[in-house]
Amino acid sequence: MAVNNYNKLLLITFAICRLIVTVGLTVLPELLDVGLEGRLSVDTWELEAASVDFGRLSRGVPSEVVHPATAQDVARVVKAAFESALAVSARGHGHSINGQALIREKKGVVIEMGKGGGGVRVCEKGMYVDVWGGELWIEVLSATLEYGLAPMSWTDYLYLSVGGTLSNAGISGQTFNHGPQITNVYELDVVTGKGELVTCSEDRNSELFHAVLGGLGQFGIITRARIALEPAPRRVRWIRVLYSNFGRFCEDQEYLISLHGKPGRERFDYVEGFVIVDEGLINNWRSSFFSPSNPVNITSLNADGGVLYCLEITKNYDQENADSVDEEIQGLLKKLHFISTSVFTSDLPYVDFLDRVHKAELKLRSKGLWDVPHPWLNLFVPKSRIKDFDKGVFKGILGNKTSGPILIYPMNKSKWDPRSSVVTPEEDVFYLVAFLRSALDTETLEYLTNQNRQILRFCHGSEIKVKQYLPHYTTQQEWMDHFGDKWTQFNARKMQFDPRRILATGQQIFQFHPSSALTKEDDM
Ligand SMILES: Cc1cc2nc3c(=O)[nH]c(=O)nc-3n(C[C@H](O)[C@H](O)[C@H](O)COP(=O)(O)OP(=O)(O)OC[C@H]3O[C@@H](n4cnc5c(N)ncnc54)[C@H](O)[C@@H]3O)c2cc1C
Ligand SMILES: *[C@@H]1O[C@H](CO)[C@@H](O)[C@H](O)[C@H]1NC(C)=O
Ligand SMILES: *[C@@H]1O[C@H](CO)[C@@H](O)[C@H](O)[C@H]1NC(C)=O
Ligand SMILES: *[C@@H]1O[C@H](CO)[C@@H](O)[C@H](O)[C@H]1NC(C)=O
Repeated sequence: MAVNNYNKLLLITFAICRLIVTVGLTVLPELLDVGLEGRLSVDTWELEAASVDFGRLSRGVPSEVVHPATAQDVARVVKAAFESALAVSARGHGHSINGQALIREKKGVVIEMGKGGGGVRVCEKGMYVDVWGGELWIEVLSATLEYGLAPMSWTDYLYLSVGGTLSNAGISGQTFNHGPQITNVYELDVVTGKGELVTCSEDRNSELFHAVLGGLGQFGIITRARIALEPAPRRVRWIRVLYSNFGRFCEDQEYLISLHGKPGRERFDYVEGFVIVDEGLINNWRSSFFSPSNPVNITSLNADGGVLYCLEITKNYDQENADSVDEEIQGLLKKLHFISTSVFTSDLPYVDFLDRVHKAELKLRSKGLWDVPHPWLNLFVPKSRIKDFDKGVFKGILGNKTSGPILIYPMNKSKWDPRSSVVTPEEDVFYLVAFLRSALDTETLEYLTNQNRQILRFCHGSEIKVKQYLPHYTTQQEWMDHFGDKWTQFNARKMQFDPRRILATGQQIFQFHPSSALTKEDDM
């Protein structure tokens, strides 16, 4: 009852505020005359929706929200923003953790990329798809499957926008073989920070092309991406095996990724893994895999109560190789060193495998456990130090409460284009370690946030040269350290493509001075 009344009160208060604010708000004069085919909004609900993200750790209310209908709309808005030095952020699906797509300035515009600009167009002959930058990967998949085709490199979760993942890298268990998503792009349309709509590729405006890929939204807004396709497999054998010995786990993962580029028969199609510190993991959001028909008794497998490691691999198959797939899998498993009684197998359509995290999302949503703070930490850890990381973090700092899955899988730098803006460790092979935690109360949030800091401090102190993926820093010095050798280039590209530093200011990389024209000091 009390909760109900409270909610009612909130609603009424909100409605009143909304009335006042809507009456009070007007369109920024800067954008009055841009002439959109799409829509511009100062509706409080819409501003509110654009003021938070998946992380629920930051807040920033924009002055207005634009829903572009075309790339020209995006160009018009950015051009106007450029002329009057107004902050402007593209927002994909708002699945950032630390306010990367938010407007933190007093004045600024969020461009809700959403749907628009031609949607998803498949070119069968060319084996590629042209996609609007705000389109979600799940939509890309649905559209390409109509032609029996699909992109090759994925993220674990498909309700992310194309422009959003390409601004980071886009990684998953296919990365070892196909490279990150940014390695699988042929061409982009980009609206630069000057409001110019430019088509770019390896051969055409290549500096912009490479800058934007992994560019954290700093150089332009992706309005179209041309993405490579392959024939879509029909089904997937999904396998999990357990290890108690971390060294063996890593050797096996590194062996499996060394098979990249081999014919499909001789390698797996997906290699990931996760760390099991507490039994809770088995019952959380990535665990739809283990079920009554697929039981796992961690206690019996983990007699000494230590940390367990789960290798997760898949093999795609079609009608043609349905008969040989088991044999191929057995041949590969024979080379590995997992606990022999710990093989768990599942078999499902390709789409269901790719969309697996969404199932977990629905389950969590139904329990009110999705829209909660997410103090995530994603690190690339160089291979040479991964054992020190295990000792210090998985077997040390973490204790026995993780509040979410911890992913771990290696990748080979040879699949990453050094010309892109993304930063990885210096070694050939590095691991993604992803702490994907949820905080259900403020105490846990504080605990986990502290733990993240402790992990970073440990790495720094032990000189483990990690790089953050989906990086979050608040000072330019930290960003310079993050980019290292790449900083000079990153900075020069910023000067070239977004000289007034109006784009994606929520990343907090460059200082933004709203009213200032370009001055010499600004260019530091
Ligand atoms: C449940 C979940 C699972 C995830 N799994 C993975 C995973 O497996 N692998 C992985 O690599 N990542 C993963 N991510 C992280 C994801 O890649 C990032 O959150 C990314 O930012 C994409 O989210 P988004 O499209 O909502 O972008 P937003 O959060 O909206 O934007 C991110 C940044 O990109 C900029 N931006 C957005 N659209 C454009 C555009 N069109 N052009 C230029 N800049 C733009 C924004 O201004 C902002 O700075 C996951 C995130 C969640 C919440
Ligand atoms: C990484 O790729 C390079 C180039 O293909 C190769 O020489 C190296 O052996 C690979 N390393 C692993 C662990 O696969
Ligand atoms: C799991 O294994 C342990 C140790 O072998 C055993 O004591 C326990 O009863 C098992 N639990 C279940 C649910 O089977
Ligand atoms: C987890 O750690 C806490 C605090 O260190 C301890 O009290 C508890 O017994 C541990 N639980 C398990 C299952 O090890």
